[in-house]
Amino acid sequence: MLFIIYYLSHQTKFNSLKKMKIVGKYPSIRLRRVRNSKWMRRLISEHKLSSSDLILPIFVREGKNKIEKIKTMPGVNRYSIDKLKTVMNKVSKYNIPMVALFPLTPERKKDKNGSEALNENNLVCQSIRYIKKRYPKIGIMCDVALDPYTSHGHDGVIEKNKIDNDKTLQLLVKQSLLQAKMGCDVIAPSDMMDGRIGKIRKALDKNNFKDVSILSYSAKYASNFYGPFREAVGSKKNLKFDKKTYQMDFNNSSEAYREIGLDIKEGADFVLIKPGMPYLDIIKNIKDSFKVPVFAYQVSGEYSLIKFGLINKLISEDAILESLTSFKRAGANAIITYFALDIAKKLLN
Ligand code: PBG
Repeated sequence: MLFIIYYLSHQTKFNSLKKMKIVGKYPSIRLRRVRNSKWMRRLISEHKLSSSDLILPIFVREGKNKIEKIKTMPGVNRYSIDKLKTVMNKVSKYNIPMVALFPLTPERKKDKNGSEALNENNLVCQSIRYIKKRYPKIGIMCDVALDPYTSHGHDGVIEKNKIDNDKTLQLLVKQSLLQAKMGCDVIAPSDMMDGRIGKIRKALDKNNFKDVSILSYSAKYASNFYGPFREAVGSKKNLKFDKKTYQMDFNNSSEAYREIGLDIKEGADFVLIKPGMPYLDIIKNIKDSFKVPVFAYQVSGEYSLIKFGLINKLISEDAILESLTSFKRAGANAIITYFALDIAKKLLN
């Protein structure tokens, strides 16, 4: 009788343990046995980060012979086009599959519609051509959004104090076509306008860019972790109001399903969750629900927090590997990270 009461009250627990195939108990089971030696830990390890999982963001700037440190992101530089080889040689040596390009547009070239985004000779277009010519085996992804080019720092055009979705779409389509024409492999809309994936896919197909793929920043949160990046691309000081009318609210998770479902329907080849570490739950849920490649972005604020921790010797180097492996456990296929070179180098040794 007692057993029955005990059984009923613990039934769900027993069932879930059974489902997880956990049988036996201490002392016949001792999980420490599987951690006893390094060779054993290697054998049973479930996830392994490799250089194939990494995407390196690269900041480009005007000028010649310039490698400029970014104060808010120690260890990350801005390169003039002619100096891109210093970083690209490493990308190639460490076998990193893809780079993501971000420009620091001079203020004099910014305007309210971000028209520099459509200039064939803007920094991103020049960089694509430079890299494609010299490193044809490395993939290039480019953000589609206007913020590096607008005088107000927003991702779209402003009409009556609002970011105008449909007007912005027209420009984003043009920006995507230009990047594809320059040789960009992966178009990555990071603007969070509604309907952009469908419009961009259609335009790419119509213009014979059917092999150019789309990585949608589908679940991009209005995050407080983008600060160092905005400093790096020079949009921070220009921003007069936040991006909460287009980027997602961090209180929400089911909204991410709607965003991602729509983007997949509209033609996204892969989807991205951003930021990374504070959103591992979203990565895991999306990976479990949609069988599409899921990418994660370990953003600038996450990078700088870890980096300042390392500089101040509060944490050790392996914290980088630990942070990136968390994305693999959550189910990410690849990770955009400013640590890509450091960690790929380490993984090689
Ligand atoms: C712009 C864009 C941002 C980032 C990538 N693309 C910033 C923003 O939305 O304000 C952030 C990346 C990072 O913080 O590392 N659309």
